[in-house]
Amino acid sequence: MTKEDSNKIPTKRDAERVILDKEKLEKLVNRAKEVIESDKTEVPPFWVNKYKKEAAKNWDLFYKRNTTKFFKDRHWTDREFEELQPDQSGNQKYLLEIGCGVGNFVFPALAENSSLFIYACDFSKRAIDMVKSNEQYDESRCKAFVCDLTQDLLTDQMEPNSLDLVSALFVFSAIPPEKMEFAIKNIYNVLKPGGRVLFRDYGLYDEAQVKFSKASDKRLGDNLYVRQDGTMSYFFSTEDVKSRFEAAGFSTVDCQYIYRETTNRQKEMRIDRIFTQAKFEKKNCDGL
Ligand SMILES: C[S@@+](CC[C@H](N)C(=O)[O-])C[C@H]1O[C@@H](n2cnc3c(N)ncnc32)[C@H](O)[C@@H]1O
Repeated sequence: MTKEDSNKIPTKRDAERVILDKEKLEKLVNRAKEVIESDKTEVPPFWVNKYKKEAAKNWDLFYKRNTTKFFKDRHWTDREFEELQPDQSGNQKYLLEIGCGVGNFVFPALAENSSLFIYACDFSKRAIDMVKSNEQYDESRCKAFVCDLTQDLLTDQMEPNSLDLVSALFVFSAIPPEKMEFAIKNIYNVLKPGGRVLFRDYGLYDEAQVKFSKASDKRLGDNLYVRQDGTMSYFFSTEDVKSRFEAAGFSTVDCQYIYRETTNRQKEMRIDRIFTQAKFEKKNCDGL
C-alpha cells in the first residue's frame, strides 16, 4: 500500500497491509541493498546446475519431510484478487493453480466459491498425492496432476484457450530465471483471451533476501538463492516480472509491491516482508 492510498476508507484487505512512509521505505531498501550488493558469493557452476536439475527431487523431499504441515492456508487470496469471488451470473470459472503444493490455496478457494473448478499441478508427486488424498478433494470440482511447468505442456492436460484464471502463488520464485519464459508461455496457451494470471511472490529487498545475503554462501545468481534443503528462491522487482509477462504477450493490469509486517514470536523480532503482486491479462486479439 502506498501513502497515497491512505485517504481511502480502509477495507479488510488494507488493514492487513502496512503503509510505509517514504522515509521508512528508503531506509529499509537502502539497508537491504547494501547487504545484498556486498554478497559476492560464487557457488561453483557444478552445484548451481545440480540445484537447477534436481529442483523437482528437492521439492519432493521437502514434502516428504514436512508433509502438509509447512505452509499455512492462503485465506487472503480472495481479498487481494476479486477475480476469485463468485460472479453474479453464477457461471462456472475454470482456474489452474500452478505449483499448488499440498493445496493451501486450492481447498480454501473451492470452499469460498462454489462456481470454481480448479486444475492443480505441481512437479512434486508427493505433493499431488497429498492433494488427492485430502478429504476435501472432489473430482467433480478439482483435477490435480503432476507437471513440470518448465518442460511439460499444459495443453496435454486441458484444452488450449480454455481457462479463466491461473494462480501463481510463490511458485515462479522456485523456477530458475532462464526457465521462466517456457513456463509463462505454457500458461499463456491454456488461458482464454481475456483470462488473467494472479501473481504473488517474493519481492526484491524482502527480508528473506537480506538473510540469504548475510549467510554469504547461498547466492546462485542475480536475485537467486538456494536454501539449506536445495530448493531455490528468486526475488522479483515489479519491472522484472512485468517485462517477463509482457514479453510473452500479456498486458499488465496491476503490478505493485505489498509490504507486510510480521512478528517472529520465538525470536521476538519484527520482520518487514516485501511481496510483488500482479495481474496479467491475455490480450483479446491474441497478438493480431
Ligand atoms: C513455495 S511452494 C508454494 C505452494 C503453493 N502455491 C502455496 O502458495 O502454498 C512452491 C511450489 O512450487 C512447486 N514448483 C516449483 N517449481 C515447479 C515447476 N517447475 N513445475 C511445477 N511445480 C513447481 C514446488 O513443488 C512447490 O510445491
